[in-house]
Amino acid sequence: MTTPAAAERYLAEQFLRVRGASSKIGAIVATRVLAAQSAGGVRGHVAEIGVYEGRFFIALALCAQPGEKLIATDVFTWPDEGVADRFLANCRSHGVNRDDILVQKAATQSLTPDGYRKAAGGPVRFLHVDGAHKYDSVLHDLQLAKAALHPQGVICLDDVLHPLYPALTIAAGDWLKANPEFALFGVVDRESFASACKFMLCRRDHAQFYREALVASSPDLLFKHRAQYFGDEALIFSAPPA
Ligand SMILES: C[S@@+](CC[C@H](N)C(=O)[O-])C[C@H]1O[C@@H](n2cnc3c(N)ncnc32)[C@H](O)[C@@H]1O
Repeated sequence: MTTPAAAERYLAEQFLRVRGASSKIGAIVATRVLAAQSAGGVRGHVAEIGVYEGRFFIALALCAQPGEKLIATDVFTWPDEGVADRFLANCRSHGVNRDDILVQKAATQSLTPDGYRKAAGGPVRFLHVDGAHKYDSVLHDLQLAKAALHPQGVICLDDVLHPLYPALTIAAGDWLKANPEFALFGVVDRESFASACKFMLCRRDHAQFYREALVASSPDLLFKHRAQYFGDEALIFSAPPA
């Protein structure tokens, strides 16, 4: 159940050199989720909504198994039109095979859940939602994620409890209330003011699998208490003090 060496190296040496917003601890936990899935025989594509220049995407990509696609969705217009080229150049220079990447240049509001699922071309086992941070957009992106998700897949939602995006947190709560088959199994703590929590979600039947896998793989990051969320018990991942 170990993270592939290429992903470990990228996280240790290169992650913070790629321009982006995600925290390193979030990426570490994500790669450990992917390692648990690989060890448990969960196969599927790996996807991110809001890839920007690829910081988080590359960490996910380096954990993919042969034949698994890497689905990169973004408007690719912010902060300028060169961002898609920088994304692909970063992927290339960190060892991600261009042929494995499906670049989807789109505002997600223009995608339907069915269209997104079909474009993915097969179940997605890990999906990072980090696109538009408005209430309606987050609800919509979570619906896209649900439509494409492998039955044992994980949705990782970025920037929950971020002071700049209070409505995103409300959207996460409302979506979970409306989709009770999903459980919150992990909360990744922030590292600084700007790197807010990530929520790790999966279908309720598989939450215990992820809790057990991550308790085994991540004693270095586990906070001693667990979060209680309307009957769900979520592990808390927190970086040890420097
Ligand atoms: C915070 S950045 C993502 C950071 C990236 N995940 C990382 O780890 O470095 C948000 C990204 O979402 C994209 N985005 C914003 N609104 C979007 C939308 N409606 N559809 C698709 N992408 C969107 C932006 O272009 C931007 O690249």
